[in-house]
Amino acid sequence: MKKKSPYFSFLLLSLLFLTACNNTKTSFSIDSPDKNISIEFALSETGNPMYLVKHKSEIVIDTSFMSFDLKDLPPLEDNFKIINSSIATINETWQMPWGEQIDVKNNYNELTVYLEEKTADKRQLNIHFKVFDDGMGFRYEFPEQNNLKEILITDENTDFNLTGDHSVWWIPGDWDIYEHLYNETKFSEIDALSKKNNENLSATYIPYNAVNTPVTMKTDTGLYLSFHEADLTNYAGMTMKVDPINLKMTSELVGSERLKAKVKLTVPFNTPWRTIQIAEKAGGLIESKLILNLNDSNELGDVDYFTPMKYVGIWWEMHIGKSTWDMEGSQDMNTWTEGKSASSSHGATTKNAKKYIDFASENGIKGFLVEGWNTGWSKWLASAEDREGLFDFMTPYKDYDFDEVMAYAREKGVEVIMHHETSAAPLTYEKQMDQAYDFMKANGMNSVKTGYVGEIIPEGEYHHGQWMVNHYHKVLVEAAKKKIAINAHEPIKATGKRRTYPNAISREGLRGQEFNAWATDGGNPPNHISTVAFTRMLSGPIDFTPGVFDIKFNTYKKQNQVNTTLAHQLALYVIIYSPIQMVCDLPENYRVDGKLHPAFQFITDVGVDWQQSKVLEGEVGDFVTIARQERETGNWFIGGVTNENERTQELTFNFLEKGKTYKAKLYKDAPNAHWDNNPQAYEIEELELTKASSLKVKLAPGGGFALSIVK
Ligand code: NOJ
Ligand code: CA
Repeated sequence: MKKKSPYFSFLLLSLLFLTACNNTKTSFSIDSPDKNISIEFALSETGNPMYLVKHKSEIVIDTSFMSFDLKDLPPLEDNFKIINSSIATINETWQMPWGEQIDVKNNYNELTVYLEEKTADKRQLNIHFKVFDDGMGFRYEFPEQNNLKEILITDENTDFNLTGDHSVWWIPGDWDIYEHLYNETKFSEIDALSKKNNENLSATYIPYNAVNTPVTMKTDTGLYLSFHEADLTNYAGMTMKVDPINLKMTSELVGSERLKAKVKLTVPFNTPWRTIQIAEKAGGLIESKLILNLNDSNELGDVDYFTPMKYVGIWWEMHIGKSTWDMEGSQDMNTWTEGKSASSSHGATTKNAKKYIDFASENGIKGFLVEGWNTGWSKWLASAEDREGLFDFMTPYKDYDFDEVMAYAREKGVEVIMHHETSAAPLTYEKQMDQAYDFMKANGMNSVKTGYVGEIIPEGEYHHGQWMVNHYHKVLVEAAKKKIAINAHEPIKATGKRRTYPNAISREGLRGQEFNAWATDGGNPPNHISTVAFTRMLSGPIDFTPGVFDIKFNTYKKQNQVNTTLAHQLALYVIIYSPIQMVCDLPENYRVDGKLHPAFQFITDVGVDWQQSKVLEGEVGDFVTIARQERETGNWFIGGVTNENERTQELTFNFLEKGKTYKAKLYKDAPNAHWDNNPQAYEIEELELTKASSLKVKLAPGGGFALSIVK
C-alpha cells in the first residue's frame, strides 16, 4: 500500500518558504471559477517545482514533482527560484463548426510561474496552469534564453501522485497502437506488460508497465478522474508509467531509437497540456470540453467543404472475408489471424461500387468509401522492404473504373470518400501527398480515410513518437490547404486539435468494430462501449463504424460475431460521437424479404451534427445513455447501451420544449433478446412524448435502445 510521503506536507512547506524569503512569494494557489477545484504550486527545499490538486476539500493529486532529463545537459529539476508570476481569467464562448454541440463555454483561471535556475546557466522554465470547473491542465514553456537553444529531452518526469488505490479503466502504454481492450483493475493491479505480443495487432510495443491516455479512474469517495493531454504538437505522445506501490503515475514519453531521445526541440517551445478531468458524475467526463478548450482556436476558418454525414463502404466485406482488398487475391485482413478464405475475390470492382452507390442514394446516405481501389494491396502486410514505395494513391486497379464510378456517384448524388492506406510507410505517402490530394479535388472528393497498418518505416520510429506526431500534423496541414478533411486510422491519439484544424474530422485509435470480424479473442465484449464512452471518447470523435445487423455473419465467418444486440448497434449512432458515421454492414443485410429492414429507419433518421448533447446516465464499464439534439431540425435522438447485464432504464424528458408534443419511435431489445443467443430480436414502438413524460426501457444482456423524437 501507499508509503508515507517522504516530503513535507505541502502547506507546511509553503508556510516555511513564505517566512524564509521575506517578500518573494514561493508558493501559489489558484481556484476554478466555481472554486471547487484548486491547484497549489511551490518549489521544494531543493528548488524542484511541484504541484498539488484538490477537489473541494479532498486532495486528488498529492505533492507531485516536475522535471526534465536532457541529453548531454544537466536535468531541469532542482535549484529553481521563482522570478515572476501572473494570473488571468478568461470567460468566453466559442462555436464548433460541427460537433457534439454548437456553443462551448471556455471559462478558467490561469496561473503562470516563471522559474530560473540559481546556478550559473540561469536556465528558465515557465509553467502555465489553467483551472476550469471540469478539471485542470498545465503545460511547460521553454522561453527564449541564452543558455538553452536546441535540446533533446530524454525524459519528461511529470508525476501524478494519486491519493488512493482507485478503480482504473486502462489500456497498456503501447508505443504503436491503441487497439487494445480496456481493462478494469485497481491501480495497484495494473499490469500492462501482460498485454505484450497480442496476436491481433498489426504492430505493438509495450516497453513499460505504463498506460495510455485517456485513462479514467473512480476514487473510493466516488469522484471520477481522467488523465490525458491536449494539443499534442511537435512532441512525443505521453504514456503514464505506473508505480503500483506508491500509487503514482509519471509521464513516460514515447521514444525513438533513431533519435535516441524522446523529443527534439528548439527553444522557445511549449509542451502539450497535461490534463485531469474531474467530475462528480461519470457523465460529467463526457460532457467536459476541457481538452478542446486547451487548444488554440480555429485556424482554418470555414470548413464547409466538409459536411457531417453517414456513409456506406466497400469495407466490412473485406473484414468478414467475403472479398479482398487486393485484386491479385493474395492477402486479406485474415492473413495475420487465421489465413485467407479461398473463395474471396476483389471487393472494389466497378460493379460492386455501383451496388453500394445505389444503396446509399436510395436511403439518403450521403457518403461512400471504397477500400482496395488502388494498386499496392498485394503486399500491404509484408515486411518493411516491400512496403516502402508500395502504394500508389492515383492508380486504380484494372477492374475498378475510377472515372465511371465517380460519374455514377455524381449522378446519384453520393459523395465518394477517398481511401489512403499507407501501410505505415509515411515517407511514401508524403512523396505523393500533394498530387494525391490534387487528384482527389479534381474528382470532387473532399475527405479521405488514411491508415497506418504495420510497423513504422523507418525502423526505430513508433506510431506515437514525435516523428509520427509531426507526420500526422503535416497531413492535416497539407490537406487543409487543399480543403480536404482527414479521418485517420491507426492515428495518433486525439488531443483536441480538431478545434484548431476542423478538417480533423474523425479517427480510429481504439479497438473498433473490425475486431468483431476477425479477432481471435472473441471480439469486443458487451461492456466495450460502456467503457469506451468514458475513456477513448473523452479525447475526440471516433470512427467506430457501427450498424452491423447480421450479428453472427455465419455465411462468411462462423467463428466470429458481434457481441451485442441489434438495438445496441442502433444506439451507437447516438452514443459514439463522430461527424461521420459508417453504416457498415453489407447492403443485403439491411434488407429482409426484399424490403428495407424496419429498424433501418433509425439509421436513416438519426442526426450526425448536434446542437447539444446530454449524458442522461452512466457508470463506467456498465451502461451509458446519451441524448443529442440535431442541428437545424431540433429533433432529439437518445441511445442507451448496457454491458453483459440486463437492466431497466428510466427516461425523463425535461429537456424537451414546454407545451409541445413529440412523435417518438423506440427501437428496443425484444423481451427474449440476448447478445449471444438471440441478438437480432428487436421491437419498435411508436409513442407520443412531452416534457412531462417518463418511460421505462428494458435492455437485454449486451443490449441497448435507440429513440428518435421528432416535433
Ligand atoms: C485498418 C483500418 O482500421 C481498417 O478500417 C481498414 O479497413 C484497414 N486498415 C485497411 O486499410
Ligand atoms: Ca485499425
